[in-house]
Amino acid sequence: MHMAAHPPFVPPVPPPPATPLPVRAFLRAIRVNALTIWPESAYRDDVAVRHFLGRVNVLLNAPDAIHHVLVENHANYRRSPASIRILRPITGQGLLLSTGDAWRMQRRVVAPALAPRVMPLLCRHIMRSADEAMTALTPRASTPVDMLAFMQTLALDIAGRSMFSLETQQYGTAMRGLLNEFAERFAQPHLLDMLLPSSIPTPRDWRRARFSRRWMHLIETIMEHRAAGSGDPDNPRDLFDLLRNARDPETDIGFTPEELRDQVATLILAGHETTAVTLFWACVLLARSPDVQTWMAEELAGVDLAEEGVQTRLVRVRAVVNETLRLFPAAFTIVRETILPDRIGDLELPRHAVAMIAPWVLHRHRKFWTDPGAFMPARFMPDAPPPPRFAFMPFGAGPRICVGAQFAMAEAMLVLASLVQRFEIDLDDPRPVLPRAVVTTQPDHAPLFRLTRRG
Ligand code: HEM
Repeated sequence: MHMAAHPPFVPPVPPPPATPLPVRAFLRAIRVNALTIWPESAYRDDVAVRHFLGRVNVLLNAPDAIHHVLVENHANYRRSPASIRILRPITGQGLLLSTGDAWRMQRRVVAPALAPRVMPLLCRHIMRSADEAMTALTPRASTPVDMLAFMQTLALDIAGRSMFSLETQQYGTAMRGLLNEFAERFAQPHLLDMLLPSSIPTPRDWRRARFSRRWMHLIETIMEHRAAGSGDPDNPRDLFDLLRNARDPETDIGFTPEELRDQVATLILAGHETTAVTLFWACVLLARSPDVQTWMAEELAGVDLAEEGVQTRLVRVRAVVNETLRLFPAAFTIVRETILPDRIGDLELPRHAVAMIAPWVLHRHRKFWTDPGAFMPARFMPDAPPPPRFAFMPFGAGPRICVGAQFAMAEAMLVLASLVQRFEIDLDDPRPVLPRAVVTTQPDHAPLFRLTRRG
């Protein structure tokens, strides 16, 4: 690959502490920027153990240990009380937080609606939103653009249209308003959120519940609007048609209206912010890597992005998206809690121990990667050796792997391709952009970008 004119860009990140943080600092870091909870040694070792709030807390980097928790013995691991508290008001009883038989049933019904077979339908919605957004950018091409806000608006529009077809503009503002309010007021885990089992509500949980009623009411309103145009089961227009007609292959039972509402809310939440930040980070990395941009633009010259299945040919675009997900995994950590005591190799875990598998750490681990901090999409080209087992897992692994992974990849690739095909991307802000992880891997500020028409 002829891309070595300049040394690869190494995006700045908050330095890891030299030694494990004392309890107070650890607690603060979880709330303010969870990327700083892991000491330097975590990026070299197989496992890091600490005791926190009377509980054992382990970070697992070794492939066998990860396999044990996410695959082999996954039924003994559930989501942590803090994740349940924070996500329940938005996702209700949807797929993300459900467990046991309820989860298995929901997964069987939802997964076919997001399977590769459905991608052409979803890609049409993606391209329609992307084209409109890019066209709206064009007249402004010489004025600075807030690409974080741009990608958040676009990703929510794509989520809304893939779900409901209708122009979501009239609901977009209300949805964004509620999601922002939630992110600002309720998304940070506090001491009680982590300390108490999720069955005991904290005062913040009451406020979260009041919020939840407003959010679910909005989703119901959009569903009513959408349901008015009666659907043809043989010609699904969108995810909503697919989900409301879906039946569990084992029992032939579908979703009740309330269950449907919770799945819709879950997919909108899980789907839009993760993809938006991924696209934002891709813009930062590309702005600092003009050679990579040119290399990508070469692949895109003359390509019709509306053509069905076009993504399979765009190996450079895919490599850039994968390398972005490696350096800035939107889901920076996967947290589980043991239900019964367990043993992972030599490690004894009591019940309610916390097991963390952190894409953020794995993707920068010195054992698995050369130059782990450098932006080098060539790692993900078809001729490069595949990454070691579990060293790259932006979508998780095992039975609870991201159900929207295909959709997310298609969306990230098509939106980024649309942008790079039209514009050269440059940062208009000399300040370094640092990642700050709260629910997803966000930037510490929203820098302005300058876009110049290509060619
Ligand atoms: C770049 C974008 C995305 C990233 C990085 C991402 C990452 C992840 C990860 C790591 C998990 C596993 C969490 C765990 O095991 O605890 C997950 C689960 C999930 N994701 Fe995604 N995701 C993305 C986009 C999407 C999209 C577009 C959708 C929906 C349309 C979606 C829906 C879900 C759902 C429903 C689950 C829960 C699955 C289950 O528990 O069975 N995600 N995602």
